[in-house]
Amino acid sequence: MSGIRVLVRLARVSSLRPVVVMPCRFKYTQHQGVKGIRNRKSFFEAQMQAGQRADDHDEEETLLSGDLTDVRFLDDRAYDEVAGGAMRITRDIATSQQVLILQPYVKWAAKRQPTLTDVRPDDQLAEASALVHSLPNWQVAKALKVPLESLEKKTLFGSGKLAELKALVTDLRQERHLTCLFVSKGTLSFAQKRFLEAEFRLPVMDRYSVVIQILRLHATSAEARLQVAMAELPYIWAQAKDASVTQTRRQGYALTDLQKEILRTRERKLRAELDRVRRQRQLLRQKRKQQNYPIVAVVGCTNAGKTSLIKALTVEDALQPRNQLFATLDVTAHAGCLPCNLEVIYMDTVGFMSDLPTGLFECFVATLEDAMLADVIIHVQDLSHPCHVAQRNHVEATLRSLAFNMSGGDSTASQLPPIINVYNKCDLIPMKGQKTSKTDHHISARTQMGLDTLLVDVEQQILVATGRKKLKMRVPNGGQEMAWLYKNAAVVETMADEKNPEWLMMQVVITQRTLDQFKRQFC
Ligand code: GTP
Repeated sequence: MSGIRVLVRLARVSSLRPVVVMPCRFKYTQHQGVKGIRNRKSFFEAQMQAGQRADDHDEEETLLSGDLTDVRFLDDRAYDEVAGGAMRITRDIATSQQVLILQPYVKWAAKRQPTLTDVRPDDQLAEASALVHSLPNWQVAKALKVPLESLEKKTLFGSGKLAELKALVTDLRQERHLTCLFVSKGTLSFAQKRFLEAEFRLPVMDRYSVVIQILRLHATSAEARLQVAMAELPYIWAQAKDASVTQTRRQGYALTDLQKEILRTRERKLRAELDRVRRQRQLLRQKRKQQNYPIVAVVGCTNAGKTSLIKALTVEDALQPRNQLFATLDVTAHAGCLPCNLEVIYMDTVGFMSDLPTGLFECFVATLEDAMLADVIIHVQDLSHPCHVAQRNHVEATLRSLAFNMSGGDSTASQLPPIINVYNKCDLIPMKGQKTSKTDHHISARTQMGLDTLLVDVEQQILVATGRKKLKMRVPNGGQEMAWLYKNAAVVETMADEKNPEWLMMQVVITQRTLDQFKRQFC
């Protein structure tokens, strides 16, 4: 019997004891799906391995057992050279960097009335600093906004601004030993990058390459490493294409035939491995369905507090929320318990960020399929973030387009699970009597404020979404019926029947299918 089953059983047996009332979130089951530990196995993987049945199909066996995949081919020096040339990033994260962040923005755009999805230049600059701080040994030497007429100019900056910035770079070289420039724009064209590097005589990075550097650092599981590797390729191809149009090979970055072959071979291998991972996910999902655990997917922008909320709801000590962007790159599963004693699985997912080139996020979208097939989605939002409205709109739009893609482009069939909006980090802002409605909750994962009400709502939504009912059943005290219900349903409470102590009143949460089984067996 697997570890989790033992604990689940223990939890059930303990609920037989007279009156030990604990707040529900303190009852939980432990498992091994823990973020932040190298070579971790998810809850389901561990469970699957422990409980593999002999009659499973051969391929299923191979997919569900052992390591996800062999990713040794990812450590490839020849590829690293090509990638380093295009992105200016390395695998060596020990090297310290002093970074000048430049946040370009279009002057006229900043003056017009902001729309719901607009992020102000100040907030973009703060986000860029947070990205740099997510890398150990990287420090911000200086961060400033640069108003421009357009972001598409080949030189990016006009001559006056360029001279100003060059003077600043010279000063920072002396004062702070400046080592690189981060121009906080989705992607810089090859021509822009080349020009700026020649002018400043420093490596120049854009948002795409800084994010890739963070993802490389945080990707520890085989699946995450594959996805990051895949996310790098469109950037490298785009830079090379751009280079071949704008520069001659002698002047700039262009790929030799051999390098192109290296990229193509890598892409083929990555696709094959990712397909394998995808099939594995599907199998795990089927198994999960058979096991009938309700699934709650926790989604939201990076750093919103998803992991912290799951930790608070499950009291899983090993979970480590980190004040870093893109800390979670895997979907991990964590067992928890609702007020009615029903066990649920919380899925921690990859965080979203606005203004990321689509190619970059697309590789992680597959991992969000699990979330789309959950029974309920909790959308965690950082209420203390100045752009939380824009962030919310971005997440909702992404979820909608994901559902649309998963339904094969059929808008009538694309349905999202019910969404509970959770406004987190309320401890950081003055509360002005915000109302918690049925699907909107103001909470603090850190102080645990508002979690009890949230759990009650999650429970209600889960019961509706999974067709479970709360019923009172009268069964013989100590009989087979009682044992059967403990095994197959969630027991909310048991009380002796006042009229006849040989009978028990059991309040249970049960699916119609399980209830029918009970009736067939005992009625
Ligand atoms: P990613 O894994 O990057 O997607 O982030 P996440 O959404 O899982 O956020 P995480 O739980 O790792 O928390 C990010 C930071 O916010 C950590 O430093 C947490 O301690 C902090 N945090 C989370 N919830 C709260 C809260 O309710 N109040 C305060 N003050 N800080 C919080």
